[in-house]
Amino acid sequence: MLQLSDVKYVYNAGAEDEKTALGGVSLSVKEGEFVALVGHNGSGKSTLAKLFNGLILPTEGSVRVRGMDTADKKNLFDIRKTVGVVFQNPDNQMVASIIEDDVAFGPENLGLPSAEISERVQWALESVGMQDHRRGTPFRLSGGQKQRIAIAGVLAIKPRVMVLDESTAMLDPIGREEVMKVITRLNREEHMTVIMITHFMEEAALADRIIVMRNGLVAGEGGKEIFSNRELIESAGLELPLAARVAMRLREKGLKIDGDITLPEELVDALCR
Ligand SMILES: Nc1ncnc2c1ncn2[C@@H]1O[C@H](COP(=O)(O)OP(=O)(O)O)[C@@H](O)[C@H]1O
Ligand SMILES: [Mg+2]
Repeated sequence: MLQLSDVKYVYNAGAEDEKTALGGVSLSVKEGEFVALVGHNGSGKSTLAKLFNGLILPTEGSVRVRGMDTADKKNLFDIRKTVGVVFQNPDNQMVASIIEDDVAFGPENLGLPSAEISERVQWALESVGMQDHRRGTPFRLSGGQKQRIAIAGVLAIKPRVMVLDESTAMLDPIGREEVMKVITRLNREEHMTVIMITHFMEEAALADRIIVMRNGLVAGEGGKEIFSNRELIESAGLELPLAARVAMRLREKGLKIDGDITLPEELVDALCR
């Protein structure tokens, strides 16, 4: 679905304030996969998100979406239809004062017939559980609700890949949970490929695969068992998920807790055993 080969990205190349954000990244994401991208501030995650749908082009190397090179202009329309990106701040992603118009913006730009547009708007709003707000205004909504509208706006384009760049960062725990529920359901039931950039390790632990970025390079990747690789996690400036930290402390205190613990449910099970 997505293939990056030796991607280097330099901001302001040639200028005095030149900055290498990615130093040679190769990675691929399969259709239907749920990947979490984690790493310290400045490790290159947002640069990757922008490369995924051709918002920026690699300085060196290539980015391919279903085999389509993002550097080839004639692919750009199809790439933007395939990869949808949701950013951090929902307020910057609202374009209309009525929710259904906001969600319709993407499909309208695809030039779809109006019956199809309203069908998609309905489906997208139902997918995020916001259908009752259809004719309301986004401005009075909570952060979690606004972010769900922003997700609906991207969904209405029916992308095969959804990239979320710290899209839950500004939300309270309830808002975060609302968004995570929507995303995991779309992944499991609609087989949408999900790439989630997050600094919440509890969210990352829900993914099939976790890619750890450090200084513009991939420092490691794997299932949630990578959280037992303390050296990797610490060298990347990350914190273990809360359940993993609690399990670690309890072990230090002499309690016998078996297995890799990353999710609260796993800790509960281990403690009950
Ligand atoms: N528009 C920009 N101009 C110059 N440097 C940038 C720009 N955007 C990001 N950078 C730099 O590139 C590096 C990677 O940034 P970014 O991809 O935003 O990291 P992350 O999302 O992991 O915090 C950082 O050192 C950052 O300062
Ligand atoms: Mg970022």
